[in-house]
Amino acid sequence: MRLASGHVAVQLHGEELAKIQRDFAGFGKGLVRLTPGGWVLPGPFTKYADKIYNTKFHEGDVVIMTYPKCGTTWTQEVVWTMRNNPNLDHPKASIPIKARSPFIDSDMLMHMGKGAPRNELLEMVRDILPDPDPDKGIALQLTANLPDPRTIKTHLPLSLMTPDLLDTAKVIYVARNPKDVVLSFLHHCRLMKSVDYVGSLEQYVDYFVQDQLIYGPYWEHLREAWPQRDHPNMHFLFYEDMKANPKAEMKKLDRFLGTNLTEEQLEKIAHYTSFEEMKKRDEDYYEKNANKGLKQEVKTKEGGFYRKGEAGSWKGRLTEMQEAKIDDWTKKNTVELGIKFKYSV
Ligand code: A3P
Repeated sequence: MRLASGHVAVQLHGEELAKIQRDFAGFGKGLVRLTPGGWVLPGPFTKYADKIYNTKFHEGDVVIMTYPKCGTTWTQEVVWTMRNNPNLDHPKASIPIKARSPFIDSDMLMHMGKGAPRNELLEMVRDILPDPDPDKGIALQLTANLPDPRTIKTHLPLSLMTPDLLDTAKVIYVARNPKDVVLSFLHHCRLMKSVDYVGSLEQYVDYFVQDQLIYGPYWEHLREAWPQRDHPNMHFLFYEDMKANPKAEMKKLDRFLGTNLTEEQLEKIAHYTSFEEMKKRDEDYYEKNANKGLKQEVKTKEGGFYRKGEAGSWKGRLTEMQEAKIDDWTKKNTVELGIKFKYSV
């Protein structure tokens, strides 16, 4: 199937699909791989791909673009707060970030399993979307109906978004070192009922370095964004730098976004968006509103969405062999790209 972006999507099949579906019970509707790029995405992506690609952005939009688990939620909260809640008194600030900052490509994730999709998001956004058309994608309609200024999340790479994205909107690309990403992503895939990963860490590392995880290839994602890092509408941000000095990174964001916040406001926002504070607010919210999307046994044992929030927590968790696999793969992919990660702070 040819997409508006020019990519051709082919369904995964045979032993490759059977193996993935044994390990990821949630991918009931299969997966597709796109050419060029080798992008792996849930089967329902093809239903929404052209709508996403043809989305016209507004001048004041900020798009937060990341490979999964690179600090998307953190950056969303930072950016949304800087733009909408600089004095920390916004009445809607306690609603989960996904309702304030839409995840434009999440409709395919809501529909990738065999069962009926959960409508938790819909409940949160009734005021903006009182009468949505379920066939048109809840996230897409939320994005379209959200008042300006919009802060939009995507895990898609640049080539699957409108080609004039950077001419219109501002993009914040967040990157994180692959060793922390692989462990964070593994945890996420075990935790989310909708993904239901039942394989081992060993297998997961193999899926990662063989570019078989959704939204990958990881390096290709970076390869599209990194050369754009000096574009005036692109801000490139490393998770590790935010962790080392959140206020310094927020000052750079302040200049990029033109928010003109005071030192005191930035100081308070840095505290408000710290791992501990965001985790606490999430727990408070879900204490009152049961989070039915998480596997409780995984949450109890390994933690919830807010797992560790560190740079370098991979240390001691990967075997020598797993580390070597990631190091070799990194070396091979960074020769030309020239990007360098910090692996701890
Ligand atoms: P860990 O699993 O390593 O803890 P994403 O939002 O892209 O899915 O990324 C999730 C990762 O960011 C998780 O990493 C999560 O704990 C971490 N994270 C979320 N909020 C954070 C914060 N305020 N500060 C630091 N890390 C945060």
